[in-house]
Amino acid sequence: MKIIGSFPKTRLRRLRKHKWIRNIVSENNISHNDLILPVFVREGKNKIETIKSMPGVKRYSIDKLDVILKQVKKYKIPMIALFPYTPLNKKDKNGTEALNPNNLICRSLKIIKKKYPEIGVMCDVALDPYTLNGHDGIIINKKIDNDETIKVLTKQALLQAQMGCDVIAPSDMMDGRVGHIRKILDKNNFEDLNILSYAVKFASNYYGPFRDAVGSKKRIKIDKKTYQMDIRNSEESFREVALDLKEGADMILVKPGMMYLDIISKLKDKFKTPILAYQVSGEYSLIKEGIKNKTLDEESIFESIIALKRAGACAIISYFAIEIAKKLVR
Ligand code: PBG
Repeated sequence: MKIIGSFPKTRLRRLRKHKWIRNIVSENNISHNDLILPVFVREGKNKIETIKSMPGVKRYSIDKLDVILKQVKKYKIPMIALFPYTPLNKKDKNGTEALNPNNLICRSLKIIKKKYPEIGVMCDVALDPYTLNGHDGIIINKKIDNDETIKVLTKQALLQAQMGCDVIAPSDMMDGRVGHIRKILDKNNFEDLNILSYAVKFASNYYGPFRDAVGSKKRIKIDKKTYQMDIRNSEESFREVALDLKEGADMILVKPGMMYLDIISKLKDKFKTPILAYQVSGEYSLIKEGIKNKTLDEESIFESIIALKRAGACAIISYFAIEIAKKLVR
């Protein structure tokens, strides 16, 4: 039965009537330009290895990187985030392999930048792939020593810059490291190199599958609470971001992403700076599992990415990057 009279004058459903009109009035959209793909490299030749904790994600030996990079190029993903799976015999207490100019990351960078100069490459600055205990910093007197760690991180950042890294991404959460990295880069004529600071990195429970992927997962859970942010906090993220921008960061990363939409939104409002989000391994695995069980459908991937964009992220690091881009670029 029709409602008599002028009520309701406003019918919001008029804008939802057809797909075309929904497309016209949509406030947010995903483009291939919004996506960054994490890529795991490993030693050896002719190896493409599945990762048990992250179905669908693989580790590639350097000679096999073409397999994934060709897709990155085809589907027009602007940047990859490179992560090493360091063999146990190259790990030690202080993560010295991070400074080896012949380590996996350095060798990969040289080859990728030569073959695919058009693809941006970001690298983590942190020691966790290289330390036996899986921590991001150096332990002195049972504590992760902030300033001693920075001494190594600045060298690691410079080395990555020299090898061709485009975006230096400190993910270690030491205080003051962005400023020191900016200084060493500037001093060595890398003043144009971007710094993407993992400024707001929470001590999250959702990094588990990644730690397995880079081989830093331990039988005893690694506790990073003395350097990564407390999951209960929000205002503290303003202080982190303000400091990192002052120290010379160009872009800010919030991590994890989906669980921290409120933080992304607040930071975007306040700082008017490019904010990126990392949809982390645990978030990926949850959705992947749902799709595998058929309790979720593929559209749930889009929903998770659009949520990050709607919150204010300009780009998203996601293990789904190829799957999404495939549907966007034809
Ligand atoms: C560590 C680092 C982590 C991730 C990226 N860099 C995990 C950690 O803090 O242990 C996690 C990414 C993910 O879970 O997908 N420097």
